[in-house]
Amino acid sequence: MSRILEVSNLHKYFGGVRAVQGVSLTLAEGTVVGLIGPNGSGKTTLLNVIAGVLKPTTGIVTLGGRRIDGMAPHQVVAEGVAKTHQIPKPLLTMTCRENVAVGVMFGRRRERHPENALKEADRVLAVVRMEAKANVLASNLTVQERKRLEFARVLGTGASILLLDEIFAGLSPSELRESIALFTDVQKKMGFGALVVEHVMRAVLTLSANVVVIEEGTKIAEGTPREVVENPAVIEAYLGVEETHAPS
Ligand SMILES: Nc1ncnc2c1ncn2[C@@H]1O[C@H](COP(=O)(O)OP(=O)(O)OP(=O)(O)O)[C@@H](O)[C@H]1O
Ligand SMILES: [Mg+2]
Repeated sequence: MSRILEVSNLHKYFGGVRAVQGVSLTLAEGTVVGLIGPNGSGKTTLLNVIAGVLKPTTGIVTLGGRRIDGMAPHQVVAEGVAKTHQIPKPLLTMTCRENVAVGVMFGRRRERHPENALKEADRVLAVVRMEAKANVLASNLTVQERKRLEFARVLGTGASILLLDEIFAGLSPSELRESIALFTDVQKKMGFGALVVEHVMRAVLTLSANVVVIEEGTKIAEGTPREVVENPAVIEAYLGVEETHAPS
């Protein structure tokens, strides 16, 4: 049975900065939910709280009915929830296959044997079409390749819920098409759930069954991609314009 990640009335304050203010959302394993909002609206903070990197000020996060807020990041990963970094943070002096193998060894699978972990890493790198980079040092990757390595690292952990922070940012139109197709293909095959934070609207709208919109830490809309793009509050948050009225 698929488990559900449930975020309830979550608040996260940094001193006087109210980064997240009462956000609730649900995500079932096997489904993709988009999370959008203007710069500084609290998206990364929300992912960091779910991943255990930050403790919520108040609010609850459960997975399959079990509380995971308050767990350390490695415990959350062991529960099957893994997050990419908005700014990729590979282990620079290690190769791509070694980077992914670390996720295999210290993630949900807890593979004890480095040889097996490296084999699994090769399999994952092939899934994300990075096999040609397997033996390249992470320090020699482009920014885009580092983003794809982040994706491979979370897959390597064996997570069933992925928290993806802008993995499609900065791609050319043709790279974006290729990346969206790859993501869709891998998601269908592996069946993970994903909370996809993205500014690239085309990616969010194509990939997500549902989209949550936050502005200044507060959820302002939720629904199908079509519903949210037609929502006046969302249009105003993005374009900063008053609702227009047709001339009478
Ligand atoms: N560690 C921190 N200490 C203090 N303030 C922080 C910290 N992390 C984030 N903030 C603030 O919290 C707010 C939300 O930031 P966050 O990075 O979550 O936004 P975001 O939606 O991910 O933005 P972007 O789209 O630019 O990535 C911002 O005002 C930010 O400056
Ligand atoms: Mg962010």
